[in-house]
Amino acid sequence: MSAPQRLRVELGARAYEILVGRGLLAQSGALLARVLRQPRVIVVTDETVARLHLPPFIAGLDAAQIAHDEIRLPPGEGTKDFAHFARLCQDILELGIERSTTLVALGGGVIGDLAGFAAATLLRGINYVQVPTTLLAQVDSSVGGKTAIDTPQGKNLVGAFHQPVMVLADVDTLATLPRRELAAGYAEVVKYGLIRDRVFYEWLETNGAALLAGDTAVREAAVARSCIAKAAIVAGDERERERGERVLLNFGHTFGHALEAAAGFGDMLLHGEAVALGMRLAFDLSARLGFCSAEAAARIGRHLTAMGLPTDIASVLGGRLAPGQLLAPMQKDKKVKDGQLTLILVRGIGDAFIVEDVAPSLLEEFLAEAMAPPKSARAALPP
Ligand SMILES: NC(=O)c1ccc[n+]([C@@H]2O[C@H](COP(=O)([O-])OP(=O)(O)OC[C@H]3O[C@@H](n4cnc5c(N)ncnc54)[C@H](O)[C@@H]3O)[C@@H](O)[C@H]2O)c1
Ligand SMILES: [Zn+2]
Repeated sequence: MSAPQRLRVELGARAYEILVGRGLLAQSGALLARVLRQPRVIVVTDETVARLHLPPFIAGLDAAQIAHDEIRLPPGEGTKDFAHFARLCQDILELGIERSTTLVALGGGVIGDLAGFAAATLLRGINYVQVPTTLLAQVDSSVGGKTAIDTPQGKNLVGAFHQPVMVLADVDTLATLPRRELAAGYAEVVKYGLIRDRVFYEWLETNGAALLAGDTAVREAAVARSCIAKAAIVAGDERERERGERVLLNFGHTFGHALEAAAGFGDMLLHGEAVALGMRLAFDLSARLGFCSAEAAARIGRHLTAMGLPTDIASVLGGRLAPGQLLAPMQKDKKVKDGQLTLILVRGIGDAFIVEDVAPSLLEEFLAEAMAPPKSARAALPP
């Protein structure tokens, strides 16, 4: 086992380290000791992650004589709601905490967002550590301090910015992640290449298959490069200013959220899958508007497809909804301002930019075409 890579999120008084490596769970106590204000933590996790990865983490705490309590929640997006949030806060308070107690979020983005939000609000804010166990959480949700829960009105509408004091990304945990979840997280990895880092994107074209197949060195390299990208953007724009750099991280997400909403935020379409579709749409629209080449759009489409991600909305949702139904959630997105749609488009691979005044009519026409059944299916229809 080699030493972890230590990356820094430069946020002044709120700066913290992201440790990326292998075998980190078993060294949890030694790695965390420096950021704890008392030798005690409360570990929040879900039942699936608890079964697979809690024992080495606890052993690591015991080895460093750090006291611990564990709270296990049901797995799944449904846990990120008010009811579970209320229950979690009360369970933590029952355990008797102080301002110097640290929460640990051990799990995917659901646990990270929920436990992070609890840490943001309990006693008006206590420290927390992210220990992400999905690829999506390692490259995206655990870094940057966005915490939230969902409400019946939409996803992530109640939350807070609250930075962790450390992130421990142990790529060994990805060994147990289902292939579909892995591919969905991979969409966010590709995103960093597509928005700012063409060299990384080209490296992924060569190494993506090995990443999915289980090559831990490739996984470690990809997680680290993604975290460096996210950390740099977050350091420059912690709270997502209008027109700020952080907005670029929403690449593929305006379309993606609309597709997720249309699909009902469930197993039919995972977040990363929706982002893959959204990135392909953003490239196609960029090509249509003359910002980038059609070859670039086709090229990224081929890579995403090779990685097992969907890139054709006609085959995923086509026929099931009208373009207007996709546009409606886009106009409700929290990034919408004065009814004008803001989209992230591209001038090419690695060169994303913000477009603020996309006409809804143009978008509707574009989506209608994208959602039409594929040409082969059309040809088979009677005239
Ligand atoms: N805060 C942010 O900046 C941010 C960014 C992106 C996404 N998110 C949020 O993240 C959430 C999605 O995160 P996610 O994709 O990690 O989902 P998740 O937390 O639901 O995890 C996916 C599934 O994998 C299981 N799992 C987790 N780790 C595992 C492992 N190592 N082996 C086997 N199974 C494992 C979980 O139990 C769950 O069933 C969404 O709620 C989204 O809104 C937040
Ligand atoms: Zn995302």
